[in-house]
Amino acid sequence: MTQEELFRKLIAHSKEYGFIFPSSEIYDGLSAVYDYGQMGVELKNNIKKYWWDAMTKLHDNIVGIDAAIFMHPRTWEASGHVGAFNDPLIDNRDSKKRYRADVLVEEWMARQDEKIEKEVEKARKRFGEAFDEAQFRSTAPRVLELSARREQVRLAMVAALTDNDLEALRRIIVGCEIVCPISGTRNWTEVRQFNLMFETRMGAAAHGANIVYLRPETAQGIFVNFLNVQKTGRMKIPFGIAQIGKAFRNEIVARQFIFRMREFEQMEMQFFVRPGQEIDWFNRWREVRMSWHRALGFGDEKYRFHDHDKLAHYANAATDVEFQFPFGFKEVEGVHSRTDFDLGNHQKFSGKKIQYFDPESGESYVPYVIETSIGVDRTVLQVLSAAYTEEKLDGGEERVVLRIPAAIAPVKVAVLPLVKKDGLPEVARNIVDMLKFDHNVQYDEKDSIGKRYRRQDAIGTPLCITVDHESLESRTVTIRHRDTMAQERVPMAELPRIVEELVSMRRLFERIKPL
Ligand code: GAP
Repeated sequence: MTQEELFRKLIAHSKEYGFIFPSSEIYDGLSAVYDYGQMGVELKNNIKKYWWDAMTKLHDNIVGIDAAIFMHPRTWEASGHVGAFNDPLIDNRDSKKRYRADVLVEEWMARQDEKIEKEVEKARKRFGEAFDEAQFRSTAPRVLELSARREQVRLAMVAALTDNDLEALRRIIVGCEIVCPISGTRNWTEVRQFNLMFETRMGAAAHGANIVYLRPETAQGIFVNFLNVQKTGRMKIPFGIAQIGKAFRNEIVARQFIFRMREFEQMEMQFFVRPGQEIDWFNRWREVRMSWHRALGFGDEKYRFHDHDKLAHYANAATDVEFQFPFGFKEVEGVHSRTDFDLGNHQKFSGKKIQYFDPESGESYVPYVIETSIGVDRTVLQVLSAAYTEEKLDGGEERVVLRIPAAIAPVKVAVLPLVKKDGLPEVARNIVDMLKFDHNVQYDEKDSIGKRYRRQDAIGTPLCITVDHESLESRTVTIRHRDTMAQERVPMAELPRIVEELVSMRRLFERIKPL
């Protein structure tokens, strides 16, 4: 199965089993907006809990808040979003399709990478065992030519974006002979800037002054509350404020399912430090956040860092945690050293002093900030992509199983009476009652036991408890494990302990690197 097929199947599976639906589907959907169904919302809530607790419970110097989506419009002037939160756009005159100019160039670079990999693969086949890949990459003329051109274009794009030189960006597109994927032509317009913030009006006035924005990031709700939290919580630097909430961006290139949405959710944490110590804290947070991802157990090779060449206007260091999605390595989280840009600007724009008196040094200063910012939806997609597995079983049967880490699986336990009579349903219901206060438990008595196992595999339930006739006499049940399909007989009275051990989030937390 190609990665493209896998991705298509994953999208279909997410809908069929109640994880993710297109928004307002009965009206043919709304582009880049999605709804979470009965399974999706459980998975999403578990991911949020994993993040929230990893921040606020594992660190006694991090607290949470929940700020409003609407903020005073001056906030977005201070943050730089009104002036600089833009994407460079280009239209193809023949297809009338609009593209992000930088994405067109990035896709061109990815095609050069593919060409290089093809050259390497061809040579590997030709030379067999004797193939020295490193030497080939550093000497083969075609590979060197492709790499040099790619690097030249990359540097030109970084310079064009940094200097906001839209004409230079257009020249790169023309120079690389990039064609529109729809019309196949190179009939491009000029490149223009397009602000990504959604606007709406607050109150009754129809025009002008009452414009407010739907926040494009949750971070600013933390910055404007810095003093409130610091004072009321008597927080001492270094400390962090965490928040989970919706953000909105009028994305031009909206595709790849829930990877790039117009309404999405972020989990952000701003960590306030003494000026001059920010790079040390940045490096620490980079490692802590990578370990949070890797603790999910999908394989360390599925993650990598991507350090930024082009820094955002507020940053003096930045990296992305990238995950290997079916469509390639892409960002799931950003870790940024945001300097004192945000607090400093809010101080300037609001006219209110935003400073911290450091009792250790005896000085007052505007703190520096390390931000960790991760998309909830991209994490859901990461989990689903890594978990989706098709398996051939002995006897020729097939199953689709979501190998979601037990601690974040939507349903933890399914309780299944072998038959719908002889008192087995009553025993099964008692087990549900015993477990339901601590876990999300499903009861299912319909269809054969095999079909019921398949249904639970398809939504990623780690444990199935089967009640059979022997259960009535011996007060034991079988537990069937999703991944191995192994079954074991255990006393009913032991179930709360056994389930807790297998699905506890503690197993994930213990793998996270301490700060
Ligand atoms: N406060 C910093 C900030 O917002 P960002 O890199 O623009 O930084 C952070 O966004 C994270 O939010 C990304 O790593 C991604 O996971 C998520 N994200 C951003 N735009 C998104 C979109 N349109 N759809 C889904 N997730 C998005």
